[in-house]
Amino acid sequence: MDTIHIRGGNALFGETRVQGSKNAVLPVLAAALLIEDVCVIDNCPRISDVHHMLMLLEGIGCRVSRKNRSVTIDARNVSDDTMSGENVTGMRSSITLLGAMLGRVGEITMAYPGGCVIGERPIDLHISALRRMGVDICERESNFTAKVRKLEGTVIRLPLSSVGVTENVILAAVKAKGVTVLQNAAKEPEIVTLCEFLRDAGAVIEGIGGSTLIIQGGHPLHGVSFRIPADRIVAGTYLMAALGAGGHIFLEDAPSAQMHSMIKAAEQIGADITVSREGLNIMAQEKKRAIPYLRTEIYPGFPTDMQSLIMPVLATAEGVSVIEETVFENRFRIVEELKRMGACIEIQKKSQALIVGTDSLLGCEVSAQELRGGAALVIAGCMAQGETVVKNCHFIERGYEDICRDLQNLGVTIYTG
Ligand code: UD1
Repeated sequence: MDTIHIRGGNALFGETRVQGSKNAVLPVLAAALLIEDVCVIDNCPRISDVHHMLMLLEGIGCRVSRKNRSVTIDARNVSDDTMSGENVTGMRSSITLLGAMLGRVGEITMAYPGGCVIGERPIDLHISALRRMGVDICERESNFTAKVRKLEGTVIRLPLSSVGVTENVILAAVKAKGVTVLQNAAKEPEIVTLCEFLRDAGAVIEGIGGSTLIIQGGHPLHGVSFRIPADRIVAGTYLMAALGAGGHIFLEDAPSAQMHSMIKAAEQIGADITVSREGLNIMAQEKKRAIPYLRTEIYPGFPTDMQSLIMPVLATAEGVSVIEETVFENRFRIVEELKRMGACIEIQKKSQALIVGTDSLLGCEVSAQELRGGAALVIAGCMAQGETVVKNCHFIERGYEDICRDLQNLGVTIYTG
């Protein structure tokens, strides 16, 4: 069941609903730990990262129950402060539990977090920001212990706008004494969702959506009912599938307001896109054009998570495209797999991919090595002539509820086996 088979080469037609956002739900679930009450989180995607996060919460004493896409977390009793094992090391966002545990319990020993092999992904900035707030951190080879001396608000300026560090500082700051001013904070929509969740629960946060966040710590938090917004990267995945394979699709609930840079890139390649409250209507044009230069950037720029997803599309666009990756240094791992399918791509200076468009891709057996790269191979399979077999699909399950179901809704012959 870890393999996906795709019979590609046909245009996509139909509609599918976009699931809840992975990168929004994970910090919200961590934040629920700060609330000594019961929270109900709706539209939780049924993905393995959520499953692992819920196991971690259960492991430290939260009561978790799940009904379809609604998750109830009762964090009135938290009994443990040690987190290790695969649920931590297999998922980068387990690091957000650091800020939440410090805010709630005051101490945590945890294994270094894992996640996709897309770069070095250090945690130095998490550590330095939390140290400034009064946390002692002792690093060992396989794990580290963080302990609150006195959790106090302060002014923190991030040297780079890291999403995870911004989340951790917010989580610790709502429980800290006094005011935390976080400068150069990440502005990704998932940060906005986290702030809105905490604000609904009683936290006082100013500057939401901007690069300076002012958090007044110590306000009492209470249980809430909260809905997770749709996943912009999943919507972007199916946008790229339609662009690559051609056709006309509708993505129900697609969060178009968060997708400007992706929509702009898709229009540049060749799509007629209409945005409505209900979602995104995408009509692929007959011809695909190269994008001479595209660089990944922090929000609202073109997301690093979309970089591998646009690559198969550009691989069959007319002309030469250059993609520059500026966020994660090891995000070109699918290039060799795409080349096996007939793509003409060359990596230059480690951070740039030069893509020369060819007429079509050819189906073959390829292997997923990480989440978005794996989904990109599925897109390549939808576009390619003949059958594509994508192995190691558990990576894809980290972030997609059921990529086969969604693409079947769009007319693709695709199945697991
Ligand atoms: C989050 C997202 C991921 C997305 C990324 C950038 C989740 C679960 N994951 O990852 O999908 O691609 O944002 O939008 O939400 N860095 C350091 N030291 C640190 C922390 C980060 O040097 O302590 C560097 C990273 O190596 C990277 C850059 O900062 O080069 C940005 O990383 P960051 O924004 O922290 O990404 P994540 O939170 O890991």
